Amino acid sequence: MDNKLKHVAVPSSEITSESAYFSRRDFLKAMGIVSAGALLAACAPKSQPDPSTGAAPGEAPSPAASSATDELGDPVNSFEEITNYNNYYEFTTDKEGVARLSPKFNPKPWTVEVGGLVHKPQTFGIEDLLAMFDQKERVYRLRCVEAWSMVIPWMGFELGDLLKAVEPMTSAKFVRFETVYRPDEMPGQRSPFYPWPYQEGLRLDEAYHRLAILATGLYGQSLPNQNGAPLRLVVPWKYGFKSIKSIVRIELVEEMPATLWNAIAPNEYGFYANVNPEVDHPRWSQASERRIGEFSRRETLMFNGYEEEVAGLYAGMDLRTNY
Ligand code: MTE
Repeated sequence: MDNKLKHVAVPSSEITSESAYFSRRDFLKAMGIVSAGALLAACAPKSQPDPSTGAAPGEAPSPAASSATDELGDPVNSFEEITNYNNYYEFTTDKEGVARLSPKFNPKPWTVEVGGLVHKPQTFGIEDLLAMFDQKERVYRLRCVEAWSMVIPWMGFELGDLLKAVEPMTSAKFVRFETVYRPDEMPGQRSPFYPWPYQEGLRLDEAYHRLAILATGLYGQSLPNQNGAPLRLVVPWKYGFKSIKSIVRIELVEEMPATLWNAIAPNEYGFYANVNPEVDHPRWSQASERRIGEFSRRETLMFNGYEEEVAGLYAGMDLRTNY
């Protein structure tokens, strides 16, 4: 861990207990989230590769997602869009250059250490996680803090299921995540401008929310390197930078962990980073966004359209100061 990044205390009144969280309604049902197997019959033309961006003649066709749309009826982005427009600063800050540089990265073998304030610390191989947990499709909107968005058919499992397996202690209040540090394979990590490795964090009750997943794939195939192979976080109601890629360490901690973007620019990137059209970034509006593949801008939805499911996590909090 980079010791330059410090911890920040948070009042316990901000933390919803796990039991309070689990008594909430059945999110999976409400969101129409079902297993990939159950969705296969729903294959529709929109889930096929877009002919305008699809594979070139002679190339293997793009994989198909089981779902053609998200629960709001918006079409999933094409595999080509999702894998050729990426934020992954470990490779480059050029979104269209990540796919070119990431093939050198080797995501196998891979282990994830899960420890800290837990009764059963454990190091899991990626194949252990694939065997332990059902991999289900979740079609989520990804809203980047830079005001662009996509709809992505992820494959993965709930973060809460992994946390339960290591038995967090009652003193654990936050979860800290860390990306792999491999400057030989990730040229962007040679940049002195960022405090590598990339780190992120969630409050424990946020981490237990059923919408928070660890993704192992997209479009029904294993995760491409540029999207964070072999394991990345996806928290759909928060700005994309919270969804940390290529995770090697998950630590349960007592104090709010430092995060890379917050450490660099605390007035621009808060710890919570909930999508909020009413709280602008100091340098641009967050009221609207550009959906990749669309011409006109669309309005940004509170909590990225997941308000009904997640607003309770922030009851009583001032979302302007806790941005
Ligand atoms: N994780 C790491 N380790 N490094 C990064 O640069 N970028 C974040 C997030 N996770 C990033 C990261 C940002 S800003 C966004 S918007 C999403 O990844 C983009 O995910 P995608 O490329 O799969 O669309």
